[in-house]
Amino acid sequence: MAIATMTTALPISFFPFLLLIPAICFTICHSNSNLLCIPSEREALLKFKNHLIDPSNRLSSWVEGGDCCKWVGVVCHNLTGHVHQLHLAAPLSPNEQSALEGKINPSLLELNHLSTLDLSNNNFSSIHIPKFFGNDLKSESLQWVSGLSSLQYLDLSYANLSKATDWLQVTFKHPSLLELHLSACILEDDPYLISVNSSKSLAVLDLSWNNLSSVPKSIFSLHGLVSIDLRFISLDGPIPDYFGNISFLEVLDLHQNSLNSSIPNSLFSLNHLRFLHLSSNKIEQDISEILQSLYRCCLGSLESLNMADNQLSGHLTYQLGQFKNLSYLLLILFESIVGVERTRG
Ligand SMILES: *[C@@H]1O[C@H](CO)[C@@H](O)[C@H](O)[C@H]1NC(C)=O
Ligand SMILES: *[C@@H]1O[C@H](CO)[C@@H](O)[C@H](O)[C@H]1NC(C)=O
Ligand SMILES: *[C@@H]1O[C@H](CO)[C@@H](O)[C@H](O)[C@H]1NC(C)=O
Ligand SMILES: *[C@@H]1O[C@H](CO)[C@@H](O)[C@H](O)[C@H]1NC(C)=O
Ligand SMILES: *[C@@H]1O[C@H](CO)[C@@H](O)[C@H](O)[C@H]1NC(C)=O
Ligand SMILES: *[C@@H]1O[C@H](CO)[C@@H](O)[C@H](O)[C@H]1NC(C)=O
Ligand SMILES: *[C@@H]1O[C@H](CO)[C@@H](O)[C@H](O)[C@H]1NC(C)=O
Ligand SMILES: *[C@@H]1O[C@H](CO)[C@@H](O)[C@H](O)[C@H]1NC(C)=O
Repeated sequence: MAIATMTTALPISFFPFLLLIPAICFTICHSNSNLLCIPSEREALLKFKNHLIDPSNRLSSWVEGGDCCKWVGVVCHNLTGHVHQLHLAAPLSPNEQSALEGKINPSLLELNHLSTLDLSNNNFSSIHIPKFFGNDLKSESLQWVSGLSSLQYLDLSYANLSKATDWLQVTFKHPSLLELHLSACILEDDPYLISVNSSKSLAVLDLSWNNLSSVPKSIFSLHGLVSIDLRFISLDGPIPDYFGNISFLEVLDLHQNSLNSSIPNSLFSLNHLRFLHLSSNKIEQDISEILQSLYRCCLGSLESLNMADNQLSGHLTYQLGQFKNLSYLLLILFESIVGVERTRG
């Protein structure tokens, strides 16, 4: 049930260019593929399948000798025929027993051209690849992800990564990753991690529904980020003072944590901010002060603001009507509720 809420369609409407490309290609590339897949990649996919448990037989099209470019969930590059995308997310319907189980086979790493890997909402007993490091004892490592050197989109949401303490080092350092979804992965803080040499590529980061209690400092050195989703991750204390470091940030979702005090001024230096959701926290501040600051940084850009369920005080000020791009606003001041939703035009 929690999972259904977790995947609200929100980032999709904000990042069509990133999220919809795989989806569109999934339909188009699929229909016009008259090329045959590369035999070694077909073998790798079959080996991968053989280590999975597929109770609803979702992968029934994956058979020996077939054209793997036409298999369900597989998208090949339209010119080279290399497997480019694997879409194996389980449908979210609670009635369908369609989650894949079993183990991730190292043959996955033979798909050298893979740019999209979506294994979300499945029920793998282990998401690590034991042989990746030979005799290495870090058996729960996520290090195999670095072996997929063309990867741009990775979604492992709902996989149990509680023992993969290197998740942050591996994913934040990945040189080509644009979009990372690790929602509800039982991630925890790594108290020993000081810093990583961060990727400049990562644009979309979703760590929602974990148990982090503080925002990992390394996030603030990911200067390419445009969207951060940190909903439901048990954050407490004040909002960290460093979001202002991520200059091009457009979407910041901190809904449902225990953040207190007032919003730090540095956050109001983000003048590309379109979406700010701080609802269901313990922020204590005068709403007119917040709106004045947003007026200065984000008058033209702000599209959606949700401050509901905090400890706000004060009155709405006259500036509100001047936020020309604001189409969603929800503020709850103590007892009185102010909600505005208007269509643009
Ligand atoms: C192959 O895909 C690229 C984009 O990924 C597109 O620009 C190109 O037109 C496609 N070529 C063919 C032959 O479909
Ligand atoms: C996940 O797998 C375990 C056994 O490995 C099973 O008991 C459980 O019901 C499965 N959960 C779902 C949602 O399929
Ligand atoms: C996650 O994995 C750890 C160890 O691998 C295990 O102890 C824990 O019970 C798992 N949690 C869930 C919710 O499956
Ligand atoms: C980051 O990269 C620099 C130069 O490439 C290297 O000297 C340094 O040790 C690296 N730091 C970490 C934490 O990996
Ligand atoms: C979250 O982590 C804290 C300690 O960091 C722990 O006390 C708490 O039980 C954890 N909650 C869950 C749901 O795992
Ligand atoms: C944020 O930027 C300031 C100024 O450039 C820098 O001193 C600080 O270390 C940065 N903080 C983090 C957490 O990256
Ligand atoms: C904010 O939360 C932290 C951690 O729970 C607590 O130590 C601090 O006293 C709180 N500050 C305020 C102003 O409530
Ligand atoms: C206002 O919103 C529109 C549509 O989302 C966008 O194209 C435009 O760039 C925004 N204006 C500013 C100043 O950001």
